[in-house]
Amino acid sequence: MPGFFVTFEGGEGSGKSTQITRLEARLAASGIATLVTREPGGTPLAERVREALLDPAFSPGPMTEALLMEAARADLVARLIRPALESGRVVLCDRYDDSTLAYQGAGRGLDSALLATLNAAATGGLSPDLTLLFDVDPAVGLARRENAVGATNRLDREPPEFHARVRARYLELAAASPARFVVLEAGGGSEALERRVWAAFAPRLPRGLAVL
Ligand code: TYD
Repeated sequence: MPGFFVTFEGGEGSGKSTQITRLEARLAASGIATLVTREPGGTPLAERVREALLDPAFSPGPMTEALLMEAARADLVARLIRPALESGRVVLCDRYDDSTLAYQGAGRGLDSALLATLNAAATGGLSPDLTLLFDVDPAVGLARRENAVGATNRLDREPPEFHARVRARYLELAAASPARFVVLEAGGGSEALERRVWAAFAPRLPRGLAVL
């Protein structure tokens, strides 16, 4: 697949959304055609699914939650991510299938092999070229989130043990796929983090991508 597919993963309040915005600006300034999107969401249908998923008014069971994540993912991959990669763009996606393994797997306790099968079905086997894991102590991340504008979402409200399991699973996933993952220590300032994001990203960027 042409293009370059980068996913941003991590716990709540890890600062990854800020870093995506900064990387996007840097790529735009270099004239590199980039698609920025997020999960769950990114298409009109998937954004509707997102609203339902994050709404504290609902309390779906773990399997319902997983299948809604996968439904949103299937739509996003088919309609946006694959076409963008086929046209040679850089795709920056805020969360992707590792989120399901961490949150619905470690967090909710669903079977990892089943989730891997669902992920493969939803993505058609499309794996990121690079995954940046923003690793932060959940207590630090959640405190940042509470200070930020906007209310916390349904998953933010899970107990500390849930977020600790999510973090541990992410680190296991990174250790299992060292060629794909770069783990970034995300507990400090955003300027230093931005430099580390660029240091991880720039050497891996293939030549000959679509330009603006
Ligand atoms: P969001 O507010 O975008 O959180 P963040 O800024 O931390 O990315 O909400 C997305 C939430 O959805 C987040 O709590 C993680 C969760 N999620 C899953 O549980 N499974 C998934 O597969 C995905 C993509 C997200």
